[in-house]
Amino acid sequence: MTQMKETAMTNSMGSPTTNVGAAVSLENLVRTFGKVRALDGLSLKIEPGEFMALLGPSGCGKTTALRVLAGFELLDGGRVVVDGVDLSDVSARKRDMGMVFQSYSLFPNMNALNNVAFGLRMRKQSSSVRRKKAGELLEMVGLSDQGNKYPHQMSGGQQQRIALARALAIEPRVLLLDEPLSALDAIVRAELRDQIRSLQQRLAITTVFVTHDQEEVLSMADRVCVMSRGHIEQVASPSELYSRPATAFVAQFVGISSRVPVDASNHEVVVFGQRCPIRSGEGSNLTGAVDALLRPEDIAIEVDPEGQGFVTRKSFLGAMTRLVVQVGEIPVRVDVRSDKASEIDLGTHVRPGIVSRDVLIATRKEIVAADAVPAK
Ligand SMILES: Nc1ncnc2c1ncn2[C@@H]1O[C@H](COP(=O)(O)OP(=O)(O)OP(=O)(O)O)[C@@H](O)[C@H]1O
Ligand SMILES: [Mg+2]
Repeated sequence: MTQMKETAMTNSMGSPTTNVGAAVSLENLVRTFGKVRALDGLSLKIEPGEFMALLGPSGCGKTTALRVLAGFELLDGGRVVVDGVDLSDVSARKRDMGMVFQSYSLFPNMNALNNVAFGLRMRKQSSSVRRKKAGELLEMVGLSDQGNKYPHQMSGGQQQRIALARALAIEPRVLLLDEPLSALDAIVRAELRDQIRSLQQRLAITTVFVTHDQEEVLSMADRVCVMSRGHIEQVASPSELYSRPATAFVAQFVGISSRVPVDASNHEVVVFGQRCPIRSGEGSNLTGAVDALLRPEDIAIEVDPEGQGFVTRKSFLGAMTRLVVQVGEIPVRVDVRSDKASEIDLGTHVRPGIVSRDVLIATRKEIVAADAVPAK
């Protein structure tokens, strides 16, 4: 165990912390702004020490959910329960949650050390405890030599690390991160992503991380809650979410899916002339004209002069190459190994086939809207 770990596992009085890894229960949350239902009956349980990501399009209610949890936003219905205690009447300051925002929200007139120590000052800790603790946290985020710098003298990545240290300084019961990486360039972002994740795992802090970047989510989270219009579409591990999307919205929002019109009957569809079982879950009882939602890796192709598809585009992705295969009216995306793709020219006729064990279907031409629904 490192010094950092010991720091985080003891409270400011030096005794063991008992509230690391709180259990969070969001119960039927409703929050309206005029005609907009920003949260429309959202319920979610987050396990102690879990890293839960909220993923969804702009305006779906992610920030509102986080602000409600932190106590910055009032509820029109529902309740927030942490470790079995209803927090409805508890002020934000007394909820002991650490929050990091998208934009750098450091106090510009305080140096890094004082920014980190701010919450401790609010909690009336002595100056020696504040300095010691803030120093340890700066070390934890790798910035122990930057304590005297003011925010405008630091890079964006450094400022976000200070913001993280500041949020952790109060030993929060829950860590709330609202798109903390979105203003950073790709390299710093990837670095900080790893740092946040390993810190979170080491400290076992229950964390809610908001983003609309699916790559970020799939690489960091224990579980992902996909939101749309103030409600939850699916809560699942990253791999389950990707490989077994429960709804058409998830299939289209997480990863890439091509929509292919098919007919459904007897729990089966025929795709590219091949009979396939329909995946259980949303839409599985549909019959008649529907769309099959196919991942690029759900499909394999064989070069065949008689094949019903032909290649119209190739995008090199490294080990794999993504092809767009035109099948009748429908462009279908297919991933193939790059060594195989290099032998397939544009215009080549191919025979597509399904290689997944079942197929997700949805109502044909379902509209995937990004904004919150108006109140009924
Ligand atoms: N204070 C407010 N007053 C009025 N409407 C609000 C307020 N806060 C949020 N909303 C509305 O509630 C809905 C949800 O907003 P929220 O900020 O939670 O979305 P979000 O998922 O965080 O989006 P983004 O990815 O763009 O940050 C939006 O339609 C937004 O316009
Ligand atoms: Mg937001």
